[in-house]
Amino acid sequence: RILVLDFGGQTTQLIARRVRESGVYCEIHPWDISDEVVREFNASGVILSGGPESVIAPGSPVIPQAVLDMDAPILGICYGMQAMVHQLGGEVQAQASHSEFGHAVVNVHGGSALFDGLEDHRLEDKSQLDVWMSHGDRVETLPEGFSLVGTSANAPSAIMSNEAAKRFGIQFHPEVTHTKKGADILRRFVLDICQCDGLWTPGNIIDDAVSRVQEMVGEDEVLLGLSGGVDSSVVAALLHKAIGKQLTCVFVDNGLLRLHEGDQVMKTFADNMGVRVIRVNAQKRFLDALAGVTDPEAKRKVIGNLFIEVFEEEAAKLKNALWLAQGTIYPDVIESAASTSGSAHLIKSHHNVGGLPSEMRLKLVEPLRELFKDEVRTIGMDLGLPPIMVQRHPFPGPGLGVRILGEVKEEYADILREADNIFIEALLRHDLYHTVSQAFTVFLPIKSVGVTGDGRRYDYVVALRAVETVDFMTARAAQLPWDFLDEVSRTICNSITRISRVTYDISSKPPATIEWE
Ligand code: XMP
Repeated sequence: RILVLDFGGQTTQLIARRVRESGVYCEIHPWDISDEVVREFNASGVILSGGPESVIAPGSPVIPQAVLDMDAPILGICYGMQAMVHQLGGEVQAQASHSEFGHAVVNVHGGSALFDGLEDHRLEDKSQLDVWMSHGDRVETLPEGFSLVGTSANAPSAIMSNEAAKRFGIQFHPEVTHTKKGADILRRFVLDICQCDGLWTPGNIIDDAVSRVQEMVGEDEVLLGLSGGVDSSVVAALLHKAIGKQLTCVFVDNGLLRLHEGDQVMKTFADNMGVRVIRVNAQKRFLDALAGVTDPEAKRKVIGNLFIEVFEEEAAKLKNALWLAQGTIYPDVIESAASTSGSAHLIKSHHNVGGLPSEMRLKLVEPLRELFKDEVRTIGMDLGLPPIMVQRHPFPGPGLGVRILGEVKEEYADILREADNIFIEALLRHDLYHTVSQAFTVFLPIKSVGVTGDGRRYDYVVALRAVETVDFMTARAAQLPWDFLDEVSRTICNSITRISRVTYDISSKPPATIEWE
């Protein structure tokens, strides 16, 4: 397995994903983990990520001594390369005027096991790679034992290696798709140089998770809050395979779900797969609790707290459950580890469940803790879940509660469900659903004038929202085809009499957010 040390780069998670796509298990740890943890990890190879700082600035992140003392191969990327140079006796200089951002071409001189034969182009006696760079400082003098392998216009030392010690430094970013041969470089590093075996495949991940869960819970019963979202659905399918009837799922219908969502969850899990699912019809309870509440954060609190209350009531009826399953996935784990960098891993409570109910004293089982979202989706498909369920856009915990602006009413939720369904069905029918990262409809409790064949209409407004984003931290409005939007707008106004007008939200994030509340 591979250790990825994070120096705070924007693309560290991508490094780990590319490594796993090569079939090799890896973990991301912050650069300041202790030497003891490094030794215990027993890596077959180490990748040092990029980072925003300058290695020559005082107090900047350093490579743990235990990594430099190991025999395992090392690949330093960008900051990681410069840290290697700096700590192994070479020289890095600040070169603001020579900084390089974006596309660059690297001439590869040959003689490196990591690069030979990988070229995008061959010119005269050199091979060239199209790469993506992002650096200010540059390497001026290589450390002892290293030779120059590649050069770019603004990075005289774009690639360096110590072939005997299997240590490599590259100034560009192989993890981003703009570096054409990037995935090949990482694959070669982990498979050929580090000689990992490439067994991290969906089938193996499932088998491994199944046996680990079986060993962990034995004959005990396990409780799972099933939301219908991707993560909890995959946990349900996985646990069902592992422990069958020892699993009980609680599905809370809070009246803020999408059209037919509750029925679909029951059909998929209870009817088709034979999973034991308790459906709690708490629609009225949620709507009553939300009456008169208009502030977005207050609504979130009401929904979150009530969810825990209902869930605990159901859990209390299951006297034998000793374990609580959660759909925590790897990015949640990394996020919480990064925010407490240097200290022990903090387990972030999963928002779908709303945290571990305090008095229940259940032990946690989190079978997806090591997986990225795309891995979760792949194993979900392998476990036989319907594609629409595993490929679905994210849906916030508070559901339609934050997509109905201001006070939530049943009438509004019903109108919104219908309109949203028209939009989503149309996206699917036109093969546009997977071209956007998230799409939904927002209900605006204001009235506008419209005109139909029968005369004047004075009714509600909805907004369509579709965004493109990688990380959901920033996003831009999707440029959906005009004819498509026109069709959706007409269908909504024609079939839902309570809607007089449809708008399309073109705001990006920032300054707007993806949701409206
Ligand atoms: P914003 O609106 O903050 O949304 O740009 C970013 C992503 O987070 C989702 N989101 C939530 N998810 N509980 C959740 O589980 C929430 O309260 C919540 N608010 C926003 C949103 O759908 C988008 O994917």
